[in-house]
Amino acid sequence: MKERLMKKFEELFGSTEDAGFYFSPGRVNLIGEHTDYNGGHVFPCALTLGTYGIAKKRSDRILRLYSMNLDHLGVITATLDDLTNKPEYNWANYPLGVLWALKEKGYSVDCGMDLVIYGNIPNGSGLSSSASLEVLTGVIAKDLCGFDALSMTDIALIGQYSENNFNGCNCGIMDQFAVAMGKKDCAIFLDTGTLSYEYAPVELEDAKIIITNSKVKHSLVDSQYNQRRQECSHALSLLQEELDINALGDLDIDTFEKFKEVITDPVEQKRAKHAVYENQRTIEAVSALKAGNIERFGELMNQSHISLRDDYAVSCEEIDILVDLAWQIPGVVGSRITGGGFGGCTVSIVKNDAVDTFINTIGPAYKEKVGHEAEFYTVDIGSGAQKLETL
Ligand code: GLA
Repeated sequence: MKERLMKKFEELFGSTEDAGFYFSPGRVNLIGEHTDYNGGHVFPCALTLGTYGIAKKRSDRILRLYSMNLDHLGVITATLDDLTNKPEYNWANYPLGVLWALKEKGYSVDCGMDLVIYGNIPNGSGLSSSASLEVLTGVIAKDLCGFDALSMTDIALIGQYSENNFNGCNCGIMDQFAVAMGKKDCAIFLDTGTLSYEYAPVELEDAKIIITNSKVKHSLVDSQYNQRRQECSHALSLLQEELDINALGDLDIDTFEKFKEVITDPVEQKRAKHAVYENQRTIEAVSALKAGNIERFGELMNQSHISLRDDYAVSCEEIDILVDLAWQIPGVVGSRITGGGFGGCTVSIVKNDAVDTFINTIGPAYKEKVGHEAEFYTVDIGSGAQKLETL
């Protein structure tokens, strides 16, 4: 990877001497979906798949950005003096958004840069290629501009801020946090209300985590996502007339059941129910994992899927087909949609001796029902974003 990136960088921008070589992962969420903007818990982990970049400081204020995934777009050129979202910037709106957000937050980015990236996160898979790129940019800017005080949590928050305010998706903190703070062989149990977190080792001796990519992405993702947020926030405001709470994540199930009728709109009540129950499921799932009770963890994953499908309505036909097929296979401990929804991937825990059956059964059955192939990846949990070396 390094050699390919270096070759491209030299071809486009000249010597790589003193440039930095960086990596930022993608993420998969094991459980705790659509809880991160409701002050609840999430349980994601960083992948070994991700985005690589070579970046070098310039003496002027020009930004030259090139993606080896999108060669046909050529070099995208911008300047620090006009950091605005433009359609012609395409993918570069993500790195440019982070530089904009850094300035907004008082970090004076005063040097331009040349950047070449390459990512191996499957396109549109919901495995957070955009958060990966945002956090990569944060790590690069910290290094090139010497922002020593900028912590990895700050970089995650700046990535989220840029996604919310520069790129128009009102996402929570989970993706950027997982990408920035990932730790090899551990998932991150994050309380999104306080940003306190704990690493939990994921040691599945006789099972693997498998991601299945439906290879569909419905266009509703951002608009429906923002709508779910609004539905939850309205439900919260009604509950707050009765209860002293800051977020739906503050509620336990009994309190929610006692007060849920104040949410008069049945759709909003279902959305709030998901947020509350999913948060409690996530807390229980992490305890189960720590106690070595993988079976319980799997049951909670299955319940999570049902809730996301029926109450939160963020699944879709193709994903439900994948999950239904998985549930029928002996040796599948749990299977659910992962990420924002409306396509993307499922995550499943599969006993080692059922992995071949899983792939060989679901692959052809999915193709027959949907008309195109799914893709399968075995998860290796990797580290968070970092500088790999100075060239
Ligand atoms: C997307 C968002 C995250 C989170 C998930 C759903 O990935 O970027 O903040 O809300 O959806 O859990």
